[in-house]
Amino acid sequence: MKKVLLLFTVFALFLTSCGDSKKEEVKKEVKKAVEEVKSDATIAVDQLTLGEKLFTEKTCTSCHQVDAKVVGPSIKDIIKIYDEKNGNIVQFLKGNAPAIVDTDPGQVAIMKANLDGFVKDLSGDQLQALAAYMRSK
Ligand code: HEC
Repeated sequence: MKKVLLLFTVFALFLTSCGDSKKEEVKKEVKKAVEEVKSDATIAVDQLTLGEKLFTEKTCTSCHQVDAKVVGPSIKDIIKIYDEKNGNIVQFLKGNAPAIVDTDPGQVAIMKANLDGFVKDLSGDQLQALAAYMRSK
C-alpha cells in the first residue's frame, strides 16, 4: 500500500511538473506574440511619423490638404478614389501607374512635375510611408 501511495505521489508530482512546463511554454508563446504585436505597432507608428514628416517637408501639403482641394485634390478624395478603383499610390508616385483621381491634362502635368522633379529621388520605404500617412487621414 505504501508503495502504491509513493508511486501515486511520484506520478502526481510528474503530472504537475509537466503541467508547469507546459504553462511556461504557453506563457513564453503569449509573451512572444505580444512582443510581435508591439513591434508591429511600433513599426506602423514610425512609418506614419515618417510619412507625415515627408508629406510636409516634401511640400505635398502646399497642394494637398486633408479635407479641401487646394491646387491638387484633398487627401480624402485621393484615398476615396484609390479605394474605389483599387489603385496603388506607391506605383503612381513611382511613375508606373497613370493618374486616376484628376485626369485633366493640366492638373496631371502639375503633379507629374513633382514626380519627375523630386519624388523620383525618394526610396521605396519613403513612398510607402507617404502612402500610409495619406491612408491614415
Ligand atoms: C504643386 C502642387 C502639388 C504638389 C507639391 C504635390 N501635388 Fe500631388 N497632385 C497635384 C495635382 C494638381 C494633382 C491632380 C492631378 C492628378 O491626379 O494626377 C495631384 C494628384 C496627386 C495624387 C493622385 C494621383 C492620381 O492618381 O490622380 C497623389 C497620390 C498625389 N498627388 C500625391 C502627392 C504627394 C505624395 C506629394 C508630395 C511628395 C504631392 N502629391 C505633391 C499637385 C501637387
